[in-house]
Amino acid sequence: MSSVVYLNGEFLAADQAKVSIFDRGFMFADSLYEVIPFYNGIGFRWTEHLARLSKGLHAAHINLDLDLEPLCQQLIARNGGGHQAVYIQITRGADTLRRHRISSDLIPTVLLLSYPIQPALSGDLTEIEGISVITTEDIRWGRCDIKSTALMANILALQEAIGQGAQEAIFVRDGFLLEGTASNLFLVKEGCILTTPEDPHILGGTTRSLVVELARKLAIPLQEQPLPASLLAEVDEAWITGSTKGVLPVIRINAKLIGTGQPGPLWGKMAQAFRNYQRELLKI
Ligand code: PDD
Repeated sequence: MSSVVYLNGEFLAADQAKVSIFDRGFMFADSLYEVIPFYNGIGFRWTEHLARLSKGLHAAHINLDLDLEPLCQQLIARNGGGHQAVYIQITRGADTLRRHRISSDLIPTVLLLSYPIQPALSGDLTEIEGISVITTEDIRWGRCDIKSTALMANILALQEAIGQGAQEAIFVRDGFLLEGTASNLFLVKEGCILTTPEDPHILGGTTRSLVVELARKLAIPLQEQPLPASLLAEVDEAWITGSTKGVLPVIRINAKLIGTGQPGPLWGKMAQAFRNYQRELLKI
């Protein structure tokens, strides 16, 4: 059975949902998105996801007056409930021809999809082996804080990583490590957690901000500071974060082992704190 999607006011079978070829999301990637885990009906970091989306829409001058939360809930219920990720995409709308200039009468296209997921870090933490990443030049635009669907640079970088047997690529701009193609980056050096400061060159991750909050709660030193790529030779641990991943240990960067080549002790502490937070909040 095809899953149900929400498109512009209607719940439809996925294969019945259609958008115009003149939709500016299709023509120009003139659109934004979010991916939000819902565990038994509770949106994880919902407030943070919604705030980021609202900020992005505002920056893009897209006006949307719609209460998305009940739509997410209805969609999840129609797709069988339980734990699901909801993908929300808002485009500037469908025009009647291809033109760069924004027409004044456009109505945003709103698409919601959902699919089953396992809660992040739900299994045995000791069985998590860690991932390999590569570094690659950041060829993205200058407003990576806007969660735009214009992801070709991210897709090419991820493909480059996969080609080298890695699972994620970390963008480097002007010699500084920024973030992954779909994740934020954390390093650990001499007991201190380091992460790229929030600025227009990275996406302000909803999981990133949780890790910062948890580090404060655990009284683990954490600094938000520019991360020169040369630091990689000196770090004891590296992690990436993302909504459906949680906090994942990185054990190899550019084919070189980090530390002992095992997930590090501070990752273990953070992953446990993340799980406790998730359990308390979601009763899972
Ligand atoms: N991506 N940085 C980038 C470039 C991202 O695309 C993402 C998430 C993150 C992490 O943000 P969060 O913790 O809020 O998920 C950082 C989503 C999951 C995606 O593209 O599917």
